[in-house]
Amino acid sequence: MFSLFKALPRLGFRAQTLQVKNYRAFSDVYVNHRDTLDNNDSVPFDFTPENYKEIETILAKYPSNYKKSATIPLLHLAQKQNDNFLPLSAMKKIANILGVADMDVYEVASFYTMFNRTKVGKFHLQICATTPCMLCGAYDIVAAIEKHVGCKLGETSPDGMFTLQEVECLGACANAPMIQVNGEWVYEDLTPENVIQLLEDLKAGNAKIGPQTDRNHCEGPQGRTTLINYDSEGAHDRDFDQAKKDWEDARAAAKAAAAQKK
Ligand code: FES
Repeated sequence: MFSLFKALPRLGFRAQTLQVKNYRAFSDVYVNHRDTLDNNDSVPFDFTPENYKEIETILAKYPSNYKKSATIPLLHLAQKQNDNFLPLSAMKKIANILGVADMDVYEVASFYTMFNRTKVGKFHLQICATTPCMLCGAYDIVAAIEKHVGCKLGETSPDGMFTLQEVECLGACANAPMIQVNGEWVYEDLTPENVIQLLEDLKAGNAKIGPQTDRNHCEGPQGRTTLINYDSEGAHDRDFDQAKKDWEDARAAAKAAAAQKK
């Protein structure tokens, strides 16, 4: 009988070839909840009065029988209120407000990397390492940050300032490599040198959002070549009112032509 394992050496494979010698963990976040002293059922959490008002505004956007649709906005709200950390009791509070099972909220919170179910440092650095960022040196950025702050991916620096996490594409590939901080602001066009300055600027409270070079937004070497007349007041090259009128005229003409054929 043909034996694959006996045949492999003759085909030039050695046992070692089949062994995975090194592997890289692609997630440093536990899916399951683990009770800790600062994150268990008995640790209280409640929204602030201001955030209860905000919750009313959020819930008003959905039909009353689809309150569950507000799960993600409420998770964001709780996390922001609680120093970028989403404890078990916050998820239970949200389930209670929405009238759903606790598990419905846990499922959402454990699926998305933007929800931190363990405490993070003052600055939660989400470092993109998907293909465009990786090819532009994301792992050099990781190495530079790790060396500077004194911790590895998935850890918090000894001074409690930085938590490092590798994440997938954050939608700023044109400015790769990049990082997102505290789930809000992005810092782009990083180099192993300018990222160190960025870390210091974050601590000092004067970090510049966006490209860390003199590049304007995501413009190429020729500068802006499209939307030349766009300004921040909302003026566009295209007259949308005229475009709508043209479309309505064309539709009316097509209807008239079809009626004539009958
Ligand atoms: S690959 Fe990094 S932002 Fe898209």
